[in-house]
Amino acid sequence: FTISKPTNDPFLGYMPGSSEREELKAELERQSNQIVKIPLIIGGQAIYTDKTIKVTMPHDHSHVIAECCIAGEKELKMAVDSALAAKEEWESMPWEHRSAIFLKAADHITNSYRPVLNASTMLGQSKTVFQAEIDIAELADFLRFGVWSAQEIFKDQPSSSAGIWNRQDYRPLDGFICAITPFNFTSIGGNLATAPAIMGNVAVWKPSRTAVLSNYYYMKLLMWCGLPAGVINFVPCTGSDMSQYVVSHPKMAGFHFTGSTAVFQNVWKQVGENIASYANYPRLVGETGGKDFIFAHSSADIEPLATAIVRGSFEYQGQKCSACSRAFIPASIWPQVETLLKAHTAALKVGDVQEFDTFMGAVIDQASFETCKEYIDRAAVSPDCEFVAGGAYDDSKGWFVQPTIIRCKTPTYESMVKEIFGPIVSIYVYEDDKLDETLSICDSASPYALTGAIFAQDRQAIVKMEKALRNASGNFYINDKCTGAVVGQQPFGGARASGTNDKAGTTLNMIRWVSAHSVKEAF
Ligand code: ALA
Repeated sequence: FTISKPTNDPFLGYMPGSSEREELKAELERQSNQIVKIPLIIGGQAIYTDKTIKVTMPHDHSHVIAECCIAGEKELKMAVDSALAAKEEWESMPWEHRSAIFLKAADHITNSYRPVLNASTMLGQSKTVFQAEIDIAELADFLRFGVWSAQEIFKDQPSSSAGIWNRQDYRPLDGFICAITPFNFTSIGGNLATAPAIMGNVAVWKPSRTAVLSNYYYMKLLMWCGLPAGVINFVPCTGSDMSQYVVSHPKMAGFHFTGSTAVFQNVWKQVGENIASYANYPRLVGETGGKDFIFAHSSADIEPLATAIVRGSFEYQGQKCSACSRAFIPASIWPQVETLLKAHTAALKVGDVQEFDTFMGAVIDQASFETCKEYIDRAAVSPDCEFVAGGAYDDSKGWFVQPTIIRCKTPTYESMVKEIFGPIVSIYVYEDDKLDETLSICDSASPYALTGAIFAQDRQAIVKMEKALRNASGNFYINDKCTGAVVGQQPFGGARASGTNDKAGTTLNMIRWVSAHSVKEAF
């Protein structure tokens, strides 16, 4: 059996009067008028615990849309046992039957289930319709490209010779996979749990508390499409319980993570300290922080540059791991860039994501709001900073932070180098004759290397900038914004403090979830 290389799931337009807009509006209405009780799902069973948390909408933080059960020690141990119990049958299921479950889920996302996932992503994570649409389309892409990547891995076989047949068996890892997933993409949550399962593994999945509604609906979809009990166990819980009862388990064979650098480094330390207790060296795959940049040359086209800064920094409230959070602009073009930045930012509508023309919703939670507020407050009194746009916030109804542009006089001011994860971009205006040293600052001032973009029309400048910034990102864009990587087109991931760079949705990632067994047979 072979499957052909997939194409990306097309985006829907949601034009006024379109059937997709009407369906989504009805689903938003339904989901915002109910409180879903979200259970754990362990061994295919819904399990309700006494300990629960309320799930609210970030843009309307007193509005409860779900109540989520939280797993404790007992349930986490059950989840590991259920995963290990499901392992043998799952890995011996013929590949095409395993794959059919995920391809079926992708087709349902395309054809019928999209409003459910889009609405829960909009309400639970405060995404606008377009941001939810690209997220859920990406989830379908991850499923289809994941299955196709598995096929490409399995068919790669060693050469043989007369009287000898060499073959390679791509075994699932000898244990279970622990997936800990973020709030900012429903698709990343789904993919981190699903990619190892596509390769025949079983998983224990801790979704983010602030993406738990959309992640729960995805889990239900997988079960409805025939995922056997115990293959993925859905266990919202605290990070410390996950670390104590799951990450430390001797049969944890892999760890699939997107989230903060600090958490990933702690897990890495924990695994290192207990390395002798594991049955295998666990595979640690993580995508962590970022301080993504746009760097302009004096030959840059001004309008696309300004648009890229505004879209790259403020779409989804700057909460994409790829979001632009610092920019370097030469003094010769700064006056024109500044005028456009002010005009574009002033035109952005910030507010309720259920209104289809909103550009920006609220940041995810109170902690995120407080972080943004503190950066803004410090910038307001710093002699190093001046606001080009924004600088305001309001938490009376939702966790709203205005799109904010800070011009910094020094390129190492805190907001130029530290990750904020909100709608705040810092700009350093450099003297045109200081290009080389400013490139060097961009490369070295932050520990991260996730995404970056350059803007220039001069080809010599492009060559120079690309070379100088070669290690400053895992995803590099020339004359485009630094967000919006598409599965199968721009494989996504970063290095340095941004992660292990095992590009999501590609063979480079999927190969981490198998342990090859080389067999030689002599005739
Ligand atoms: N893949 C997402 C982007 O590139 C994170 O924006």
